[in-house]
Amino acid sequence: MSGELSPIDKAKFVAAKRAVDFVEDGMRVGLGTGSTAAWMVRCLGELVREEGLKIKGVPTSTRTAQLARDCGIQVVSLDEAKWLDLTIDGADEFDGDLNLIKGGGGALLQEKIVATASDQMIVIADVGKEVERLGAFPLPIEVIPFGWQTTKTLVEEMLISMDVLGRDVTLRMNGERPFVTDEGNHILDLHLNRIGNARQMAMVLNQIPGVVENGLFIDICDIVVVGFGDGRVEVRDINEGTVEKDRLDFVENDNLFSDLME
Ligand code: 5RP
Repeated sequence: MSGELSPIDKAKFVAAKRAVDFVEDGMRVGLGTGSTAAWMVRCLGELVREEGLKIKGVPTSTRTAQLARDCGIQVVSLDEAKWLDLTIDGADEFDGDLNLIKGGGGALLQEKIVATASDQMIVIADVGKEVERLGAFPLPIEVIPFGWQTTKTLVEEMLISMDVLGRDVTLRMNGERPFVTDEGNHILDLHLNRIGNARQMAMVLNQIPGVVENGLFIDICDIVVVGFGDGRVEVRDINEGTVEKDRLDFVENDNLFSDLME
């Protein structure tokens, strides 16, 4: 099965596989959302089933909660866990300071709450997510449905005074209907192309009535595990200032891929 993975999926898989080495017995672990995070959940599930790893997982979406349960991971709410040892999640972009854009999968609100309630956040990403400056990926913001068009206008007016290269704001759709998050909100995608000052943007966006949260994760991520299509991984630790290089082999393992084969 693993032989059928595309290079990008291999990169996601090796990043996920390396990141679960950080998980220890008894930990409360935040479980991210998205295709890379799904690899991590599968890898963790394998450790739970095969090696008796005991963890409590706090998922960041209903999708991840379902996958985690299917993989045999004990799922608890953030309120039950109260505080987490570690969160592992994907990202849409990361820069050299390990600041992120997240929310491509529409789960940014729970993802930010869970990551912020963790001693450590580890991001897992294929090397294609690395950027010099954030903003090529459209920045998602979660807005409440009430008056969302007014919120959109307020966001557009705010962008006029910001250091960005694009100012288009679009409502994310799910077919014919607006996309709805797990909290029942909508997502506006901000096509900025380049964000001059991400820290300022993150703060200003959250001042706009109707905006619940934005997808800029500033000073939240501690470590990025970068995966490459040939099995290489790099562990970049922003606090230690270290970069550790490694290479992982792909091992045929139908257990790990079972949900993909259904
Ligand atoms: C979901 C996210 C994801 O982590 C992000 O979109 C990356 O997804 P993928 O691993 O599928 O590329 O922020 O809200």
